[in-house]
Amino acid sequence: MTKLPPKLESPVPVGVIGAGYYLPERILTNKDLEQMVDTSDEWIVERTGIHERRIAPPEMSTSDMGVLAAKAALRNAGLTGNDIDMIICATVTPDMMFPSTACFIQRGIEARESFAFDITAACTGFIYALATAYAYLASGYVHNVLVVAAEKLSAFTDYEDRNTCVLFGDGAGAVVLSKINKPGHGIIDFILESDGRLANLLQVPAGGSRTPASTSSIGERMHYISMEGREVFKFAVTAMKRTTVRIAERNGIKAEDIRWLIPHQANKRIIDAAAEALGLDASRIHFNIHKYGNMSAASTAVGLAEVVLNNGLKDGDIVLMVAFGAGMTWGSVLIKW
Ligand code: ACO
Repeated sequence: MTKLPPKLESPVPVGVIGAGYYLPERILTNKDLEQMVDTSDEWIVERTGIHERRIAPPEMSTSDMGVLAAKAALRNAGLTGNDIDMIICATVTPDMMFPSTACFIQRGIEARESFAFDITAACTGFIYALATAYAYLASGYVHNVLVVAAEKLSAFTDYEDRNTCVLFGDGAGAVVLSKINKPGHGIIDFILESDGRLANLLQVPAGGSRTPASTSSIGERMHYISMEGREVFKFAVTAMKRTTVRIAERNGIKAEDIRWLIPHQANKRIIDAAAEALGLDASRIHFNIHKYGNMSAASTAVGLAEVVLNNGLKDGDIVLMVAFGAGMTWGSVLIKW
């Protein structure tokens, strides 16, 4: 894709009014993985930056984690489920093919006056969901939107494949978005891009209409994540640099203006490359990959919630979120606090 989507002209002030996250208690360390596949703590840390990841218990689904994150975000916003009129869940690990995971979350938070749907953009899902929420809020169609990104990647990870099993973890993040009374603040721009020609690089090949579940699809381990790691890596470095630099440039934002870069956490080397392209100091990058691994859409959602709750954001702080994922999809959101 060479043509960029246009910049938001006169953005309506739509901001984050609450954030929360949930991470399962169980920790799977690199040492644990050494007992499961032919790998080493040293290799994983050096090649990815991951030390450990969280794994949800068997009885906990993606929506269960999403509900806990959503309740935390609602508490933080001082709202209840009754105040929410739209719920978007970004996930590639839904509870089921249907109904949507968002509908299970709606039930869990008792948001009876809302409508709910899922977005599938893999690791870029939270960015796509924020942009979608912005559009609905800016149009005046809804007033309070709950955006949840929740993933139980452990349910789709092949713990016999060292190429993928060291990378992924489970978790959920959520935010509440509303119109705010601060012109020039909130979401000031976003870029969403995708290239379906690269769909084969990263997928769960079976379980959908193309290859329904069968004894052979199970035997061939086709219900697990399959990934061309090296190709994804090359693509990711280019896409992350492109979206990071372009959204900053077209909004006249320099590296020193950015308070927090909250990138997707697939590989520390990919994040470092994007930050370097912008000339951004490492102290302004939010990392959680070392403790949680890659949680797909939940990585940026948990990242934003961690920054809001633990680091504190001041009026006027610039937050840049960037991600890439299966599809391939990639994108960014620029927020002025
Ligand atoms: N432990 C030890 N050795 C390993 C492991 C492991 N866990 N995994 C791979 N290796 C080996 C390979 O077999 C290979 O050995 P060989 O040279 O004998 O064939 C060697 O290490 C180097 O393999 P590379 O693939 O070149 O390693 P690389 O440095 O590229 O790192 C990695 C691999 C971490 C997967 C990297 O390519 C990467 O991060 N890719 C992007 C992944 C990503 O972003 N995925 C997004 C998925 S999210 C979503 O949308 C659901």
